[in-house]
Amino acid sequence: MLKNKVALVTGGGKGIGASIAKEMAREGALVIINYSYSEGAARQVEKEISEEGGQAEIVRCDVSDFEAVKEMIGDIVKKHGRIDILVNNAGIVKDNLLMRMSEDDFDKVIDVNLKGTFNCIQNVTRIMMKQRYGRIVNISSVVGLYGNAGQVNYAASKAGIIGMTKSAAKELGGRGITVNAIAPGFIQTDMTGALDDKVKAQMLSAISLGCFGDGEDVAYTACFLASDKARYITGQVLGVDGGMRV
Ligand SMILES: NC(=O)c1ccc[n+]([C@@H]2O[C@H](COP(=O)([O-])OP(=O)(O)OC[C@H]3O[C@@H](n4cnc5c(N)ncnc54)[C@H](OP(=O)(O)O)[C@@H]3O)[C@@H](O)[C@H]2O)c1
Repeated sequence: MLKNKVALVTGGGKGIGASIAKEMAREGALVIINYSYSEGAARQVEKEISEEGGQAEIVRCDVSDFEAVKEMIGDIVKKHGRIDILVNNAGIVKDNLLMRMSEDDFDKVIDVNLKGTFNCIQNVTRIMMKQRYGRIVNISSVVGLYGNAGQVNYAASKAGIIGMTKSAAKELGGRGITVNAIAPGFIQTDMTGALDDKVKAQMLSAISLGCFGDGEDVAYTACFLASDKARYITGQVLGVDGGMRV
């Protein structure tokens, strides 16, 4: 589905991002795996892709740093001539109840999750507009749609991504660029691994399909939205949550 495409996956070294990077490589894309701290994990994903016969490379960049993102995207274009697909997957949590949340924890989550998405979209859009082609997939969350106690910072960042997705879709549609969001439910990764069993059992009871999701479930959806099969889909938020709210 993605033969000869150049794809940038932020936070592609771990969890959902790693699954997306691997699946996009299987579909034929050259995948640039972005990471901020976890170089070893990113190298491992690169190795697995190349062992499967795919193409990948890694690049360090903190997506919350506008100038660093500009440089990363400039370097990719210098080397490969284009960027066809951007997956804004990098994300963090710093959970606490509203009354106990520090200003720093609020700012950090907004900086990485929301501003990081803006930084990547704005810098990649210059290239995609020239190409008159682009696929942007933003990873939001069910928490951005419905909220969650203890996550006002995270929920605000993920709801912000949905507003950004719809606005960017309106601005960029005329240039052949689609912008969509995925709202995953409970996906088994390091991010959710830290939750205690009681919280997990409570969440499981709200899932129609009766099980948690895997990174692959999000990855298949991202590949579809990044492919030409989704050419008439833009500004949408697709839930990948096992039927949490149906
Ligand atoms: N797991 C779920 O149930 C779930 C549900 C809904 C939405 N999501 C969203 O899905 C995305 C991936 O989550 P995950 O569960 O796979 O989490 P994860 O396993 O904790 O992975 C997070 C990824 O983001 C990267 N990252 C963090 N800060 C970064 C920064 N400043 N610059 C560049 N990369 C950065 C990390 O790389 P480094 O280690 O190198 O920093 C890592 O690769 C997130 O946006 C998350 O909010 C997850």
